Formats: sequence, C-alpha cells, structure tokens
Amino acid sequence: MSNVVLQIENLNKTYMLGKRPVQALSNLSMHVNQGEFIAIMGPSGSGKTTLLNVIGCIDKPTDGQVLLDGIDVAKMPENQLYKIRRDKMGFVFQTFNLLPYLNARENVELPMEGKIKSKSERKKRAKELLAMVGLSGREEHRPQRLSAGEQQRVAIARALANNPAFILADEPTGNLDSENKQEIIKLLAKLNLTQGTTIIMVTHDSQAANHTERILLLKDGKIIKEKEGLHLAKKNNKCPNCGANIKSTDDICPICKKPINAIEEPFSS
Ligand SMILES: Nc1ncnc2c1ncn2[C@@H]1O[C@H](COP(=O)(O)OP(=O)(O)O)[C@@H](O)[C@H]1O
Ligand SMILES: [Mg+2]
Repeated sequence: MSNVVLQIENLNKTYMLGKRPVQALSNLSMHVNQGEFIAIMGPSGSGKTTLLNVIGCIDKPTDGQVLLDGIDVAKMPENQLYKIRRDKMGFVFQTFNLLPYLNARENVELPMEGKIKSKSERKKRAKELLAMVGLSGREEHRPQRLSAGEQQRVAIARALANNPAFILADEPTGNLDSENKQEIIKLLAKLNLTQGTTIIMVTHDSQAANHTERILLLKDGKIIKEKEGLHLAKKNNKCPNCGANIKSTDDICPICKKPINAIEEPFSS
C-alpha cells in the first residue's frame, strides 16, 4: 500500500505587491507518497517555487492545509517550523548556495551542527555523504575549485546531512550543461532508489522531468495535468517500451534494445 507522506488540501497563497494581490497558488490540492520521485513543471510564474517553499516550511500559505505525516504545518509557529525544516527537509537550489569560505566537507557538516554533537562524527558523516555523491578526494576543496556539477553534488550531500524525509530541489539542473544535468538527475534517481528519500523537483527540463516517476504540470497556481515518468518503469522493473523485465539500473532494455529514457515533451499534446 502506498503511504501518503504529504497531503495538500485547497492551498492558496496570495502575495501583496503594493496594494495589488498576486495569487501564486490557487486552491491547489495534491498528495505525495512515501519514496516518490516527483517533478513539478510549468511556465515561469506558475507558482512552482512558492509551492516548494510552502512544502518546505520556508513560506506560509494564506490558507489551506499542508499535512506532513498527518500533521498540519500550515499554521504552525516558526519555532516549531525550523525543526521540521532541519529534520525533515533537504533543500537543493539552482545556484547551489554553498558557502564560499568553507570547503566541501564543511559545507556538508553545517546543517548537522544542531543535531550531531561530536565534531568527529560530523566529519565522518560528511565524508560518507560526499563519497555517496561521487566526490571522494574532493572533500577539502572550496566551491570555487569545483566544477558546477561538483558543486551541485556537494549541495545534494548537504541536503542529505540530517537524513531528511524529503529532498526539495528547485531547478537543480538549471545552471548545468547537458552532461552534468544528466549526471545530477541520475544521482537523484539513485538516491531515491537506494535511500528511499522522497524527492520533489521543480524543473523546466522535460528530459529531467521524464526521469522522475510522476510529473505534475502547474499553471496559474493550479495543477492542470499529471503524467507518469520513466522512473516508475524502472522502479517496477519494466521496460516502458516493450514491457520486458529490466533491472532498475538498466539504461538500455536488454530485450528491445531501446533506451529507457524519453526525449519527447511530457505535455506536448
Ligand atoms: N515574494 C513575492 N512577492 C510578491 N509576488 C511574488 C513573490 N514571490 C512570488 N511572487 C509571484 O507569485 C507568482 C508565482 O511565483 P513563483 O512561485 O516564483 O513561480 P515559478 O517558480 O513558477 O516561476 C508570480 O506571479 C510571482 O511574481
Ligand atoms: Mg521558480
């Protein structure tokens, strides 16, 4: 049975621009199951970042419910919200947001400071996380000495620091070239499969979106379409083209030999 970890009901968010109200989210309802990898697409200004920030307890809705494991965080006071952010959420941003004067390991250790008392424990965990994202040997490098793709890997390791229930990624591939884009999406998909972390990723990139298991299309603060992505086929160990049995790590179907990815626009028709 699927286990709902996030349930959103009738969410509204209105910003005031001077005296003019801007409705960023409009009566939006959705749910996310434990361990899902979800993409949120939609034109600029459709409310994607607002939705992610409300889910991540960075921003508060005007009204509606945001149930995290059954607990409504929409009206929770800030002194409780920061603990939810720290313990349940890992954030990944388009611009990486690493601290330039800290090295990779120290950036990953930072969110652990309120949680893990021992310095050596934090260091050990940061090194393990950096190894998990493929950055062994780069621990002592400052961000400026790392490539864009490597910086985003550090940011993903940092997001995993406190073993969050959710990774919330806002355009994580937006500043990367196509090769690094692919690598970051593969890394997120791998973490989703191996760690079971629920991932909600905002993206403009239809190829990236196709590598998740469910794609939601937002317009004017509402979800207007929903589609299955290829990660679902991989999780079910079925080729999306011919239905043959595949391994979740396969990139080419061993039977029909077609690549287990798609390049078509998810919402072209
Ligand atoms: N802090 C803010 N103050 C006023 N309007 C905002 C603010 N943040 C977002 N908006 C408006 O809300 C709408 C949705 O924005 P956003 O969630 O950033 O969209 P997206 O991430 O899809 O581009 C836009 O019209 C935007 O201008
Ligand atoms: Mg945005």
